[in-house]
Formats: sequence, C-alpha cells, structure tokens
Amino acid sequence: MSVTRLRVRVPATTANLGPGFDTLGLALGLWNEVIVEPDDSGRIRVDVHGSGRGRLPRDERHLVVRTMLDTLDRLGSRDRLDGARVIARNEVPQSGGLGSSASAVVAGVAAALWLHTGALPDRDELFRLASAAEGHPDNAAPAVYGGGTIAWQDDSGAHAVPIAVDPRVTPVILVPDYQVRTAETRRLLPERVPLADAVFDVSRAALLVRALEARPDLLPAATEDRLHQPYRAEAMRPTAELIGRLRGAGHAAVLSGAGPTVLVLAQSPVEADAVVAQAPARTAGAGGLEVRWRARRVAVARDGATVVA
Ligand code: HSE
Repeated sequence: MSVTRLRVRVPATTANLGPGFDTLGLALGLWNEVIVEPDDSGRIRVDVHGSGRGRLPRDERHLVVRTMLDTLDRLGSRDRLDGARVIARNEVPQSGGLGSSASAVVAGVAAALWLHTGALPDRDELFRLASAAEGHPDNAAPAVYGGGTIAWQDDSGAHAVPIAVDPRVTPVILVPDYQVRTAETRRLLPERVPLADAVFDVSRAALLVRALEARPDLLPAATEDRLHQPYRAEAMRPTAELIGRLRGAGHAAVLSGAGPTVLVLAQSPVEADAVVAQAPARTAGAGGLEVRWRARRVAVARDGATVVA
C-alpha cells in the first residue's frame, strides 16, 4: 500500500534542567520537520537538510525511518511503507543535549501512527510508544506535549504531567562544536550517592517546579545539582567551566540533557539577551584546542509534536 503525504514537526527539548535528573524537561522553539511522500520506487530514500546533512544516513538506517518501520512492524502495518521519500529539515543541533534523537523517535512514531490509523495520533499513545522506543521520557514528554514537563516511570510505563512555565522564563542555549555521547557520560554516574546529595537535589528539584511556574527569581538557587553534573564534568571540561562561569555571574546555567550543550534559564528576556551578548565565541579545550560556541535565545515551545496531512 502506498503512503499518504504527511508532515510531522517536533521541537527540540532540554532535559534534567539541573536537579531534575531523568525527570524534568522543557520544549524549545527549534523544530525538526519530517515530510513523508509516496514514492513508487519500492525503496525509502531520505533527504536531510540543515543539521546533520552529509552525516546522517539517507536510507532505512535513518533514525526517523528506523523508528517508523519498527513501530509499523509492532502495529502489524508494515505494508503501509513500502516506498517513500522522506525529507528531514533539521533545526535542532545534533551536537548533543537538545533532544535530537528524541525528536527523531517522536517523529517516526507519530508518522507510523498516522500511517496506521489515518488519523491524528493520540498524544498519550505517542508519548508511551516514543518513551519505550527512546528510553528518555524526560525528553520524549516535552517533545510530545510541549512546554515544561515532569516525567516518571513505573511498572506500567512512562507518565508525564505539564508544568505551566512563567512567560518571563527565557531559555538560552550555548552549543559547542564538540560532541559527547550520552551513554559515555551515563557510565560516569555512580550507582549510589550520599543521602545528603539526594536531599540536596530533591529540595532543588521541588523548588525548580515552583520557580518555573511563578518565581523565576528562584531559578539560580533552584538549578543547583549534585546528582549528575559533577560526575559528567570530566568528560566535558569546557562545558563544565562555562557553566561555572555563568553560575558565578548569577545565571541559572546547567547542562542541557546529557550535554555538552549549556542551557541558561534566564529570569527575563533582558537577562537572556545579556547572556547571549556576553557569551564567549571560543574557549580553551583539551590539548590546546579551541572550543567554539554558538549562543542563542530560544523560546519555550508551548506546543509539542504536530502531524499535518
Ligand atoms: N536524562 C537523560 C540524561 C537525558 O541525563 O542522561 C538524555 O538526553
């Protein structure tokens, strides 16, 4: 059976937000768009534009297509994608920490659900399937629902609820030109942590929900973390140093997801613009190499993934 043309848009996401390790997430106003067009070649071809062009695979190995095929297989609808042209227009940087793989997985699952049912996917179903496929509900939740989210897992799977983010909260991302794999930095995390550190993070994470909702002035205090960033620092010194400098200047700077991108949760657009204006273009990296940074203010994406025929 040939496919119907469809367009999926999924926002960038930032996870953890400091102390909300594997739990808190925020959708950002940078979008990956995937268009699936019928093609009677019997093959699947992928065109990549923007971020990842020239590096991402252009066939069934592309994460969006792999996810679409896996999901259709599970739904017993594999025959709905026998030939297709897939166009990926990526705004989300691939360099790490902005949920590019969650965005690809959510796009793949959304496209598969659309092809399976011919109707707009149910968001809760989309979140459940994408979390199971991707393994990071703290990225999948904001990618699917938009805005701020609290995600958790139990024996029945992943769940999420929204956080109403105060409109004054203005994210800034500082994206470096080096990459670090999430799996590599998760291996640096200890199996056990001191009770005092757990209490430290529980208090900050609880405070952070309040700060995001209505008290942006509390963001610097509420984004302190002892659970994951100190352990990951050795794998991304330039990022850790920049976070230290920004925090020293009073900004709520944290590792975006598993890094190495830096996120600042500014209390106002004015603070965000000051962070961008003062951001370094280059910092010292390992072995005398330089790290280049691109700083930009981004909106909180109020909407999550959308599918349009
Ligand atoms: N919570 C995950 C981590 C996010 O920190 O490893 C990965 O994007």
